[in-house]
Amino acid sequence: MVLFEWLTISLTLPSALFIGLYLYFTRNFNFWKNLGVPYAKPLPFLGNLKECVSLKVTIGNHLKNLYDEHGDKPYVGIFSFDKPSLLVRVPELVKNILVKDAKIFQDRILTVNVNLEPMFGRSLPMVKGQHWRQLRVNLTPVFTPSKMKNMFYLVDLCCKDLTDVLDRVATEGSALDVKETMARYTTDVITSCAFGIQSNTLKDPDAEFRRHLRKALDFSVKKGLVSLLWFFAPSFNSILKIKFMNDTTADYIRKTIWSTVEYREKTGLVRKDFLDSMIELRRRGKTHIKEDMKSAKKPKNEFKLQMEGDDFVAQAFIFLAGGFETSGTTMSFALYELAMHPDIQHRLREEITRVMAKHQGELTYEGMQEMSYLDMVVSGMRFGLMQTKAGLSHILSHFEVLPCKDTPLEIVFDPKAFVLKMDGEMPLSFKRIHFKR
Ligand code: HEM
Repeated sequence: MVLFEWLTISLTLPSALFIGLYLYFTRNFNFWKNLGVPYAKPLPFLGNLKECVSLKVTIGNHLKNLYDEHGDKPYVGIFSFDKPSLLVRVPELVKNILVKDAKIFQDRILTVNVNLEPMFGRSLPMVKGQHWRQLRVNLTPVFTPSKMKNMFYLVDLCCKDLTDVLDRVATEGSALDVKETMARYTTDVITSCAFGIQSNTLKDPDAEFRRHLRKALDFSVKKGLVSLLWFFAPSFNSILKIKFMNDTTADYIRKTIWSTVEYREKTGLVRKDFLDSMIELRRRGKTHIKEDMKSAKKPKNEFKLQMEGDDFVAQAFIFLAGGFETSGTTMSFALYELAMHPDIQHRLREEITRVMAKHQGELTYEGMQEMSYLDMVVSGMRFGLMQTKAGLSHILSHFEVLPCKDTPLEIVFDPKAFVLKMDGEMPLSFKRIHFKR
């Protein structure tokens, strides 16, 4: 009798739990149907994300496949696990969402548990509502063209380290993994501009900063799944409490930033970089708070720019996290395509060397704005574009880029990464054309 009861309970409980979970995860599955919106058929528990969860395709490619499958529709309803989401297909609607009605669609779904990962959670792309708006308004002037121009000398210094690396490779006649090398270049640029330090990752591939960054931001299977939750099921991530970055790396980044800030405040050193602009913002934030405390007229609920503690570190960190992989990858893709299309490479080199000759043989910020063909090869925004174009211009003015025997015929994307990134290495050869210095 006891055995029978035990068997009944042990079979009934899991079944009840399964049915409960099944009902919960499918509760929204009539959402799009009820609204008369065309939709892709979901699977229980996974919604329309089966291919992403099994890490077979990148998030971007999976959404593109859904986009292609519904070519005749302006939008298509999908399910991010259990949650209804809309894949918008027509440019006019996309424009309305991002421009005209941007206020309504202001918040990104991407969410990080701020108590668990304060450095990610307090950063510009993660904060919401009025907090985001104010932070954005205050941080945008950090990227004005005149500030970019002021920082150009720091980028140029890293370009020289990059050509040194390529020069060694060209002399040895060996192939070089451009994916890793371009990531080291952009790491050096951004640590210099946002952290005010020479991370020297081009000179020393195993430099402390690169080691920490590799650990923090490389995409393992676990991180691939965590980023899926960030994008599509932020509330589950809050419950599961899985961290993207380990505490040792987070502490290393905090210590590095604060010791540089202290040094600048003590010595009055000015480098005209991101960190200078952020120190200025922090100073203004402090002044406003003091003024507000004195003034009784200010409305009590007015947002105060918070640039203390992790609120400060988070912004410098996100410049690094958002800016090194994206630009490094863009450079690797561009170099690959240029190696595969020598005619385009030749035309681009001609433009770069012609403009540089006009500017006393130097690559200048102004000169780069004159390179219209370069603008067709890579396009983008502000700082990312500046470091990408500067790196490519230096490379092409000194070297011919060629495929080698291990260069893949086709680029395969890494399904574990939420940014578009090639899977594995990207070896290319470099042949010195002329070397002036
Ligand atoms: C080729 C290079 C780059 C690409 C392709 C890229 C791509 C993107 C994309 C797609 C977004 C999201 C936009 C949105 O949701 O509205 C974004 C946001 C952002 N990126 Fe980049 N990025 C690049 C370079 C950089 C660099 C160099 C930095 C910093 C120095 C940076 C910092 C940021 C920040 C802070 C945000 C959040 C902006 C906000 O919340 O207002 N990115 N980027």
